[in-house]
Amino acid sequence: MSTMRKARWALAVATVLLTACGGSGGSSAPVSAPTFTPIAVDDSAVAQADPGSPLPAGWQFSGAFMEVFVRSYFDSNGDGIGDFQGLIQKLPYLKALGIKGLWLLPITASEDHDHGYAVEDYRATEPAYGTTSDFTALVQAAHAQGIGVIIDYVENHSAQTNGHFVNSQGSASSAWRDWYIWQATQPTGWSIYGNNPWYADNGAWYLAEFSSTMPDWNLTNATVTAYHQNNMRFWLNLGVDGFRYDAVSNYVKNGPNAWLDQPQNYTIAASNQALLAQYKQRYMVCEASGDPAGFAASNACGSAFGFGHNADLIKAAQGNAAAIQAVAAYPTQVPATIATFLANHDSGNGARVYDQLGGNLAQYRLAAATYLLQPGIPFLYYGEEVGMSGGQGLTGDPALRSPMSWTADTAKGGFTTATPYRALAGNVATFNAAAETGDPASLYTFYAAMLALRNGHPAIAQGSYDAWVASGTTLSFQRNLAADHVLVLLNYGAAPTSFALTSLPANAQMTVLYPAGGGSAGTANGNGQAAVTVPAQSVMVIQLN
Ligand code: NOJ
Ligand code: CA
Repeated sequence: MSTMRKARWALAVATVLLTACGGSGGSSAPVSAPTFTPIAVDDSAVAQADPGSPLPAGWQFSGAFMEVFVRSYFDSNGDGIGDFQGLIQKLPYLKALGIKGLWLLPITASEDHDHGYAVEDYRATEPAYGTTSDFTALVQAAHAQGIGVIIDYVENHSAQTNGHFVNSQGSASSAWRDWYIWQATQPTGWSIYGNNPWYADNGAWYLAEFSSTMPDWNLTNATVTAYHQNNMRFWLNLGVDGFRYDAVSNYVKNGPNAWLDQPQNYTIAASNQALLAQYKQRYMVCEASGDPAGFAASNACGSAFGFGHNADLIKAAQGNAAAIQAVAAYPTQVPATIATFLANHDSGNGARVYDQLGGNLAQYRLAAATYLLQPGIPFLYYGEEVGMSGGQGLTGDPALRSPMSWTADTAKGGFTTATPYRALAGNVATFNAAAETGDPASLYTFYAAMLALRNGHPAIAQGSYDAWVASGTTLSFQRNLAADHVLVLLNYGAAPTSFALTSLPANAQMTVLYPAGGGSAGTANGNGQAAVTVPAQSVMVIQLN
């Protein structure tokens, strides 16, 4: 347990006894002045000490990531809670699937002891997950499997029990007061996501956009942004491969109507990117839901999640022609470093894919194929590859964060030998890693095949996006890089469809890469034309030579 967690205000009453002198009056009155004793916090500077990177050049821009909630991944010590050592044991599974990077939800000591976004100590690990040396063992083990590890960095807010906030709270004259956002009189006119973000505290008001328990840092204070960069160096020096930055759209608040995507946010992001650039081969990706393309730009984060695109991918998979058009054009509207995904840990972005699609596996495969074969950096959400549904009897965010379905055991799911800390997925008996990995017709096998294509073809991993055509319930596009030329045909419709292709390389030989064993799809004519029939609700991937 961190010292900060134990720490609380020490209110000392300094008593000064005034001694009567000169004989007049003769009374002695105690005068009390409240003071506070700041608790110990670690604000120390952290110098850069890069251990280097053993990962292949460009690892962060070509492979797919898996978003992992450590608490829900695998429990190694029988307490019902996932941990670092548990994740270490599952690295071979992730490698076999074809994953090249992990994004871990916050692994720092938290007040919430759940998703971890209420950070209590930025330089300590969540005790239930293991020690800092367990964590560095995880990073090293991942590296040994060719997998990079990025961790959440929460710069917008901390826990209310974070020692810095406690010190800031103590008095208006505290040296830490300006580390958070305080007002002496109650601000009016504010509404953030439907809530008044100002909370009364001892005669003053502090700002907290997400919850009263998560006060916002004052990121206009250079001392605060410097403190955060010291924290970032702390983890980078341990070998962490980068960060997923939380709530970047929310960083600086300039007024009641100026709290989203403020100009300073881009500057802070760029400064963090510059810090990472001092290290070898690091990667940053931002959660900036207000302006994904703007923050993915090279002068801000360099990569950001493609919010909104996830919903279009799901609708396209369901055969919605307008969504297919939107999905087709998307790569032309955003940087190629956009981080694409179907679902994540926040219910605001939709339920688990299995639930969004009502268990329709043909549509599930189409959604997966689309984002794993288009440009972007794909982020799978743990369990997505085995068709995990939401947690049994759970709603909202918790439903998305159930223990990973490793086996068909409906009591423990192969996640733990104890009682899982949270309800398992409702479909654990039928959709789980044990069943899926052994089945050549399974969703897992399909995901592994798509990732193998991505990992085996530079054109798919990082190539250009060409000759894209969305028509009705079909989408075709080419991916090209140097001598690697790949054609992707997606038929979202309920009937087999003949694609009339017009922009192929003249006389191109077409060899089917997927489905495996598909042989030849024929040859384009001298004008680059060919017709290829794709079965209903399926994908065909073709090498062009
Ligand atoms: C966005 C995260 O994805 C979400 O899970 C979290 O609750 C908020 N930011 C606040 O940190
Ligand atoms: Ca455990």
